[in-house]
Amino acid sequence: MTRIDSNGAERRRWNDRAWASAWSRRELLTMAVADVLVGRAGLRPGDRVLDIGTGGGVAAFAAGLIVGEGIVVGADISEPMVEMARDRAEQRAAGNVSFVVADVQHQTVPGGPFDVAISQFGVMFFDEPQVAFANIRRQLVSGGRLRFACWRAAELNPWFPGSALAGIVPPPPPPAPGKSPTGPFSLCDADRTMGILEASGWREVASAAHDLVVTVERDVIVDDEALRMFGVAQDAMAAAWEAIEGRLAPITRDDGRIDVPLAFQVFTAAA
Ligand SMILES: C[S@@+](CC[C@H](N)C(=O)[O-])C[C@H]1O[C@@H](n2cnc3c(N)ncnc32)[C@H](O)[C@@H]1O
Repeated sequence: MTRIDSNGAERRRWNDRAWASAWSRRELLTMAVADVLVGRAGLRPGDRVLDIGTGGGVAAFAAGLIVGEGIVVGADISEPMVEMARDRAEQRAAGNVSFVVADVQHQTVPGGPFDVAISQFGVMFFDEPQVAFANIRRQLVSGGRLRFACWRAAELNPWFPGSALAGIVPPPPPPAPGKSPTGPFSLCDADRTMGILEASGWREVASAAHDLVVTVERDVIVDDEALRMFGVAQDAMAAAWEAIEGRLAPITRDDGRIDVPLAFQVFTAAA
């Protein structure tokens, strides 16, 4: 059952059809991370895998190629994302990969218990992270593996449009009592995140930093629609673009494409 008092803002954001319809372009930024994540997960044929915050299923499909007769279930809070992932599964005839709409903070994903839970940038949006990671742990076999990628500090990821918009859009409201801030950098502090994992019952918790550089068109990172979703008012668009271009100029090639440094980390833990 979905708890309507949880993750309301993130549920609305990720279910926004305009935001979701742009995802097939946005996901080009982080596609290369799937190989790193799946490599770190040590997947084996026959494994049962949960992909948390699966989006269009990039990591789920990469896992599906390895587990063979095993299964991969991609879970996501967003109906339009799951629709997109299901369409892709059908096009690819990926019979061992399926997708469900679920808020992984509270819900039990059908298909468990799982041997492995993976996530590519899908676990930073829990407003009660300790509750969420405990709920995920309960859905794994004893000794099951957790492997997730999340961002390191915003300062190491200068491409992130939100950082350039401070002062142009209002800051997000503080979280309600008992809730945690959510967003791309909510788990960037490795020590704090390892503490959350340990407090939610995970063992052998560790993290490792990774860096990749990917080259993408500018509209993969930002366009007018993205700025609107970040809360930029129409009369602030020019100022927003000026701030964004100031950040992107040092990493922009002569042909207009951007060499984007991706500074992320992979957390590992055992159930
Ligand atoms: C940054 S996207 C990553 C998508 C995909 N893993 C990728 O790398 O392309 C984050 C995803 O997490 C999902 N998400 C956010 N909160 C969630 C929750 N509580 N339960 C399940 N999915 C969630 C969003 O809907 C979104 O698809």
